[in-house]
Amino acid sequence: MAETDTQSRTALVTGASSGIGWELADVAAGDGYDVVLTARREERLRELADKLEKKHGVRTTVISQDLAVQNAAETLFESVQDEGLEIHTLVNNAGIPNYGDFLETDREAEQGMMQLNTVTLTELTKLFGREMSTRGDGAILNTASLAALYPIPKKAVYAATKSYVLSFSRAVAHELEDEGITVTALCPGVVETEYADRGNVDDSNTMDGITNDPRTVAKAGWDGLQNGERIVFPSTFATYGAQAVRILPRKMITKLGESTVEEGQSWI
Ligand SMILES: NC(=O)c1ccc[n+]([C@@H]2O[C@H](COP(=O)([O-])OP(=O)(O)OC[C@H]3O[C@@H](n4cnc5c(N)ncnc54)[C@H](OP(=O)(O)O)[C@@H]3O)[C@@H](O)[C@H]2O)c1
Repeated sequence: MAETDTQSRTALVTGASSGIGWELADVAAGDGYDVVLTARREERLRELADKLEKKHGVRTTVISQDLAVQNAAETLFESVQDEGLEIHTLVNNAGIPNYGDFLETDREAEQGMMQLNTVTLTELTKLFGREMSTRGDGAILNTASLAALYPIPKKAVYAATKSYVLSFSRAVAHELEDEGITVTALCPGVVETEYADRGNVDDSNTMDGITNDPRTVAKAGWDGLQNGERIVFPSTFATYGAQAVRILPRKMITKLGESTVEEGQSWI
């Protein structure tokens, strides 16, 4: 990374209105970054903006937008340009799960999830990546999941979107290495956020002993980004979960994936 003053750097965080994204924005601001906060719930974003301005004395910009629709990335990119902002660090964190029998789950909801978790993330990486490349300096953090490594029956499409994020991030990290841009994939296990209330999943993505708080996950992701790491497993559980897929037979990996979901409940 080029030696520029972090005080003049700006980080754009998607999915900043709750959970891991909220904490990532706080950690970035704590490091002196100005922040652009985006998600749909404007009130929550304004609350966070107010908090970060007071706590860290950084400049904040709120852009309330639905990122699960076509051309969302282009619209967001244009809004950032209209604000005259230059993004040094892009944090592609917004994402939702979807739970249910594959043949039964709602197609429209699934399309929205795929759009948000993969298409918008890809397009934002391209649009802001081009700008970073012109400057020869930038960093991108993509929130994937431990689910990226496990096919998960009843969360088949969600897990596949996270596999996409991980594969995409690793390949682009390799491509952009010589452009002065780092790309990091964050792969959490279970995190206590609003995630479980979304996408048909019950409110039970907590497991004694392995559930992480979003602050710990965000801090690990941000530190990994600063160190130019390509993949971050932010907990012992996630690290072991990642090791397991290296040694287990494929069928057993899918069985393990299946074991992470029970009727109406899911914990990765
Ligand atoms: N929690 C876990 O156990 C876990 C584990 C592994 C990976 N992850 C990943 O971590 C990331 C953050 O999730 P979280 O756990 O922090 O859950 P969360 O609290 O539900 O946060 C999700 C964020 O995404 C935003 N979002 C959802 N739909 C959106 C849309 N259509 N347009 C724009 N923004 C949208 C939400 O804001 P609005 O509703 O205001 O739009 C919210 O800020 C996701 O990518 C998730 O897949 C979570």
